[in-house]
Amino acid sequence: MNTQSQTSPSQPDRIIIFDTTLRDGEQSPGATLNVDEKLTIARQLARLGVDVIEAGFPFASPGDFEAVQKIAQQVGTEDGPIICGLARATKQDIQAAAEAVKPAAKGRIHTFIATSDIHLEHKLRKTRAEVLEIAPEMVAYAKSFVNDVEFSPEDAGRSDPEFLYQVLERAIAAGATTVNIPDTVGYTTPEEFGRLIRGIKENVPNIDQAIISVHGHNDLGLAVANFLEAVKNGARQLECTINGIGERAGNAALEELVMALHVRRQYFNPFLGRPSESEEPLTRIDTRQLYKTSRLVSNLTGMFVQPNKAIVGANAFAHESGIHQDGVLKNKLTYEIMDAQLIGLTDNQIVLGKHSGRNAFRTRLRELGFELSDTELNKAFVRFKELADKKKEITDWDLESIVNDEIQQPPEFFRLELVQVSCGNQSRPTATVTLITPEGQELTDAAIGTGPVDAVYKAINRVVNVPNELIEFTVQSVTAGIDAIGEVTIRLRQGDRVFSGHAANTDIIVASAHAYINALNRLYAATQTEPRISAQHSQLSA
Ligand code: KIV
Ligand code: ZN
Repeated sequence: MNTQSQTSPSQPDRIIIFDTTLRDGEQSPGATLNVDEKLTIARQLARLGVDVIEAGFPFASPGDFEAVQKIAQQVGTEDGPIICGLARATKQDIQAAAEAVKPAAKGRIHTFIATSDIHLEHKLRKTRAEVLEIAPEMVAYAKSFVNDVEFSPEDAGRSDPEFLYQVLERAIAAGATTVNIPDTVGYTTPEEFGRLIRGIKENVPNIDQAIISVHGHNDLGLAVANFLEAVKNGARQLECTINGIGERAGNAALEELVMALHVRRQYFNPFLGRPSESEEPLTRIDTRQLYKTSRLVSNLTGMFVQPNKAIVGANAFAHESGIHQDGVLKNKLTYEIMDAQLIGLTDNQIVLGKHSGRNAFRTRLRELGFELSDTELNKAFVRFKELADKKKEITDWDLESIVNDEIQQPPEFFRLELVQVSCGNQSRPTATVTLITPEGQELTDAAIGTGPVDAVYKAINRVVNVPNELIEFTVQSVTAGIDAIGEVTIRLRQGDRVFSGHAANTDIIVASAHAYINALNRLYAATQTEPRISAQHSQLSA
C-alpha cells in the first residue's frame, strides 16, 4: 500500500535502525569480542537489515580500530549498511574514526561531548561556553573527512534544555546531519523524554536539516518506552542493541523496538504521517532474522538471555497454564499477539540424519543463513556426524548450535585434549584433564571438587595457573529430550575485567570444560593486548 510520504533526507517517513551492539553493547562487562567475532556479528546485522552499524570506537584500542576498518571493508558495501565509528570531540579521536570508516561505501563519524552540568563540572572540567565552541568545531572537523556526521550531547537527559538547544543548533550549522539525544544514565521517564524531543523539534531553529536520533540506557527499565515516546514526538533514528546489551543495565533492545513498531504499526503510523491502516513496515528490519541474531550475539558475548525476555527469551512464546494452552489450541489470537515465525522461530522439524551427506548438510546450512569456508564446513561436518551417532533426530537448532560452536571459537592458546570425571553418590567427584599449553606442552593434572564441573575447573586451574574467579555458570538445553545438546555459558573475572566462554556438546561436562577453556583463552589474549578507553568513562584530552 502506498503511504502519504513527505520524505526529506532529514525527515524520513520510516524509522532508521542504528545498531550499537558492537560499540555500546560491547561495553557490557565481559562482552569483549575479538575482530572475527565482530565481523560475524556485523554480517548478521547486515542480513537483519539494520540501516547503520556503529562498529566501534576506533581510538579506544588498536583492536577496536582494526574491527571497525574490517567491518567497513567487508560489510560496508554499496547496498550494505552505513558503517559508523565513535569519536570523542577531539581531533585524534575523529582522525582515527575517519581512517577506520574510510573503506566503507557509506561511512559515518559519530562525535560526542557531554552537556549536563554534572558532566561538565566533574568529568570534563569545562564551562558551557567552552562546550559551545568545541562541539561545532569538532563537527566541522569530522565533516572535513565525511559527509555523514552524527553529533551527540552526552547526558542530554540531564542537561538544561535551553543550553542543549544552543549546542544542537551550532552542531547542525557546522554540518551534523543527525543529532542524537542520549539518556546516558537511563534517568528520564517516557513522558519527559518525549517532551525533550518535542522541545528540540520546536526550539532548535535549523532542526529540519538533521535527523533526530535517540540513545538510551535501561537503568530504570524504561529505555524502550522512552524511545517509543520519542518516535511519537519526532525521533526518526533509534540507537539500540541486540538483546539490549550495553553499559550497566544495557541499551534499548532492538528486537523489542522493532516488534513494538511492527505489531502496533497502526498505532504508530499517524505519528509518521501515514494512514493508520497502512501495512507498510515502519523499519527495514527483516524480523525473521531476529531470533538468530539474538542467539549469535548471546553466544559470542556470553551474555545469557533471560528466559522471560520479551521477543527472544526462551519462554516468550511458551504457554504454560492449562487455560492458556486451551485458548491457544482453539485460536492462537486468544493469547498471542504475534506469530513466533515472524521472529524466525520455526517448528523444530527434523532436517538431517545419520545418512545425510555433505551436500545436504551444506545446503541446509545455507538455508539457515550460514556461509562457511571449506575448512569451517569440514569441521562442522565432523561435529554433525559425531552428533548423528549419538542423537537420532537432528534439528535446525542442533545444527545452529554445533556450527556456532565450531566456527566461533576464540583464539586457541590452551587446548583441551582430554577430560574425564568420576562422580556419584558414593564417590568424591574427581576429574582428570590433559591440556596443550600455548608453548605446545602436554600437561595432565587431576582434582577433587564439590561436583564434577567444580572438579574439572579445579583440575584445569592446576594446569593453567591463571588466577580468576568464576562468577557465572549456566547450562541450557538446545532442544527437548534426553539426548539434547547442552550449551554452557560461563563468565569469569580477573581484577575488574570479565571474560566469557561458550561451548556446546551432548555431554555437559565436556561442554563445561570447553567453555572454561574458551574463557581462559580470551583472558590470556587480553593480557597480551593494550587496555582500551571506555567511551563513557574517559575525560576529554583534546
Ligand atoms: O550513553 C551515551 O551517552 C553514549 C554516547 C557516546 C552516545 O553511549
Ligand atoms: Zn550509551
